[in-house]
Amino acid sequence: MESMMSFASDLKSVSPLTSGCALIGGVVVLLFIKKVAISAYKTFLRPAIDFTKLGKWAVVTGATDGIGKAYAFELAKRGVNVVIISRTESKLEAVKKEIDDKKYGVEVKYVVCDYGKFDTKARDMIAKELEGLEIGVLINNVGASYRYPRYFHELPKEEIQHLLTMNVDSTVWMTEMVLKGMVERKKGAIVNLSSAAARYTQPLLAEYGACKSFIEKFSCSLNAEYSGKGITCQCQAPFFVATKLAKMRKSWSVPTPEEYCAQGIKWIGYPDDIVSPFWIHATAGWVLLTIPQALTTAHFTQVLGGLRKRGIAKDANGGVSPQKTKKN
Ligand SMILES: NC(=O)c1ccc[n+]([C@@H]2O[C@H](COP(=O)([O-])OP(=O)(O)OC[C@H]3O[C@@H](n4cnc5c(N)ncnc54)[C@H](OP(=O)(O)O)[C@@H]3O)[C@@H](O)[C@H]2O)c1
Repeated sequence: MESMMSFASDLKSVSPLTSGCALIGGVVVLLFIKKVAISAYKTFLRPAIDFTKLGKWAVVTGATDGIGKAYAFELAKRGVNVVIISRTESKLEAVKKEIDDKKYGVEVKYVVCDYGKFDTKARDMIAKELEGLEIGVLINNVGASYRYPRYFHELPKEEIQHLLTMNVDSTVWMTEMVLKGMVERKKGAIVNLSSAAARYTQPLLAEYGACKSFIEKFSCSLNAEYSGKGITCQCQAPFFVATKLAKMRKSWSVPTPEEYCAQGIKWIGYPDDIVSPFWIHATAGWVLLTIPQALTTAHFTQVLGGLRKRGIAKDANGGVSPQKTKKN
């Protein structure tokens, strides 16, 4: 009894400011725990949707390598026919054969298109190839980054245009091609591959980061526009994945495309608008948000500045790294 009375008098002596701060702190901690729990559920426990319910076909751009190829396999494995689109016919034939050999019981159709020249003629050609197909899923995966980081004024005009066409035009026009059918059928899932580069200031990769930011905003707005019409539009923003584009080897923080897509497929068709499906990427994203932007920008400037110097040296050495020349 005595101890309860002393506790009550202790409470009275706590100032309203302190108890107010404690209350706000408690609410913040609870909200954080809730956010972590929901993310953990979505990342590890939530099952993939049944893609066959969205339509008979899925379309994947840039599907002969890396993330696009791995997504084509994930979708075929789940019983959806796939249209794979890329620029090299021999590679498309090989991927089609690889999927056919797996005997998933699905059809694979391929279309040869160079998204670097995605003019009206190329767009009409693809639209014709897709005509009449009930497309439930579109993965806008094809994209391009700089050959190596550089100041914007150092980029040749062709490279500037290539980055816009490959990242922005491909995403916008492919979406336009399939969306009307999805609206008519009141179902569909569109996935646009952005990048973590869109989320932070990217000195020396300014145009790539900005193109991917466009994709992010485009996806979120479309997701809001069409959520009431049974269609989701999701932006996936990976950090590094071990592909030719990234020129990175697999490590604990760099998944193979297959590992990335095994996680990524479980997010498609859900209303989450921007996601980093690989959990280490998602955690890194949270951590980076807590660091002052000036520090992350300084860090990226240093790292990308190093890559710029190596790229310039390689160009000056006829496309061969000077280190390799020295070893020989
Ligand atoms: N890898 C990463 O670390 C990373 C990180 C963030 C975001 N992303 C994004 O993820 C997407 C896929 O990247 P990735 O790393 O998987 O690339 P990747 O392994 O280099 O594969 C690129 C694919 O795109 C095709 N492609 C390239 N240029 C093309 C063109 N002009 N026309 C038609 N197809 C073309 C390639 O086909 P061919 O074989 O015929 O050339 C290949 O199928 C990109 O949008 C990229 O920005 C990647």
